[in-house]
Amino acid sequence: MTDRKRKTPEELRSHKWYGVKDLRSFGHRSRTAQMGYTRADYAGKPVIAIINTWSDMNPCHTHFRARAEEVKRGIWQAGGFPVEMPAMTLAETFQKPTTMLYRNFLAMETEEILRAYPADGAVLMGGCDKTTPALVMGAISANLPAIFVPAGPMLRGDFRGKPLGSGSDVWKYWAELRAGNITEEEWEGIEAGIARSPGHCMTMGTASTMTSAMEAIGLTLPGAASIPAADSRHAQMAENSGRRIVDMVWEDLKPSDIVNAKSVDNAVITALALGGSTNSVVHMVAIARRAGVDLTIERFDELAHKVPVLANIRPSGQYLMEDFFYAGGLRALLRELGDLLDTSLVTVNGKTLAENLATAKTWNEDVIRPRTNPLVEKDGLAVLFGSLAPDGAVIKPAAMEPRLQKHTGRAVVFANYDDMNARIDDPNLDIDADCVIVLQSAGPLGAPGMPEWGQLPIPKKLLKEGVRDMVRISDARMSGTSYGACVLHVTPESHVGGPLGLVKTGDRISLDVPGRRVDLLVDANELERRRKDWKEPAPRYTRGFGTLYLKHVTQANEGCDFDFLEAGAPTPDPEIH
Ligand code: FES
Ligand code: MG
Repeated sequence: MTDRKRKTPEELRSHKWYGVKDLRSFGHRSRTAQMGYTRADYAGKPVIAIINTWSDMNPCHTHFRARAEEVKRGIWQAGGFPVEMPAMTLAETFQKPTTMLYRNFLAMETEEILRAYPADGAVLMGGCDKTTPALVMGAISANLPAIFVPAGPMLRGDFRGKPLGSGSDVWKYWAELRAGNITEEEWEGIEAGIARSPGHCMTMGTASTMTSAMEAIGLTLPGAASIPAADSRHAQMAENSGRRIVDMVWEDLKPSDIVNAKSVDNAVITALALGGSTNSVVHMVAIARRAGVDLTIERFDELAHKVPVLANIRPSGQYLMEDFFYAGGLRALLRELGDLLDTSLVTVNGKTLAENLATAKTWNEDVIRPRTNPLVEKDGLAVLFGSLAPDGAVIKPAAMEPRLQKHTGRAVVFANYDDMNARIDDPNLDIDADCVIVLQSAGPLGAPGMPEWGQLPIPKKLLKEGVRDMVRISDARMSGTSYGACVLHVTPESHVGGPLGLVKTGDRISLDVPGRRVDLLVDANELERRRKDWKEPAPRYTRGFGTLYLKHVTQANEGCDFDFLEAGAPTPDPEIH
């Protein structure tokens, strides 16, 4: 990118605020002086907005206060003017009803902060699940030079010398506790040891999947996504990102130069090779559409046919992100993917993916598998269609018991989450291991917010019999750290009249993962009768952000963005009066 024409100070966007001689710019300068800065701090320099999703309520981002200082250090060194602009955090573990309800909120906030203030470039600081897609979606729409600083995974959990993984081991030991196989004391030991440092979940959940996908798409410095949050190399990466964004502004290297159909494919391929979270399907579609790329869920299935799962990381595999980093990290995995990727594409450091991967090496071939010895040969993720999901559904075949891949069973239906919680453990519930558990009203509009309820619980009485997996179907999402034969994102969702809403207990449902189908085996006339009786449920919100969400959110196969935020004519910059 050294041949890119460099901007002049007068061409900076912030020049309109600071550089001109009029009454308004006097106000901007005098108010900057009010903060203790001199002209030498900012005059003629790129203003870099650091969009920081730090919060005392986000355990995954606790190190972001320090990291923002390290980013600033890099920006000052390179001759930029850093300004930290906090934005709403999306703390997966605390925010109710679900962070997914607010992903588009943070995306809008990011876009509008960048547009409304004198920003020439942006450093995006996120990592906890939805923060990554939200920041990137906003930055794509704002289309100012932007670099992503991923939060990095936390260290391995530890319990009695055994590594623990976020989420995955919670579900596993929770089932053991419910089955009476571990004590309350052991359960408390797990609570104390499972999250022992700053950083996002260190399993291959949504966080690790999306930060890695954004590295592959070209929006981070090479190697950034794999560095554990607590490692000093993470602080160095933050400083380097700060230094680099200043040059990106001079070079005018924008998201529109980086995010395109080819780099989106690279990101999807990466998510698949990682055995990544099913949530990445929704987020990648939304990100792609912001860039005007029409990514479909079918494309995931197409690519999954040729992409092996190479990362041996829980829940599909054995290890954790800390091991992945020591084994060579994402650069090693991308290098191993080789010809599956288009490595001619430019990334934020101005170099191509191929240049960035030239020196990458795998140090542990059990953690990062060579293509000759993959963890799963292909189909880490599958997209299903059928009479139960006319617009699609997703499943993770690698994380389910193989005996359920082709299965027909009797449906046991729960009308909503409360209904399921009230009845699932009832000893009199008529259910066996061959039944298909169905949850309705858990989609984008129904829940609302499409929460991570998709790993429907196995009834206690079946757990005690040793059952650990069953076919489960819903219009919800599932935490990327979860596992099981869970058919997710059923579209259209039940709340808008999708066939999922018409299923009754006793119906037969067939799942055929190799055939990519999920079907409701109910006579068409009977289904038509049920459809006539179906009544649209009342909206869940009648005021506030919730109403905006309900009016505009799209279905899962379309990315759950707001319809008015998808790519269109660019929004004009504000007039500076
Ligand atoms: Fe933040 Fe899992 S809770 S990434
Ligand atoms: Mg998660």
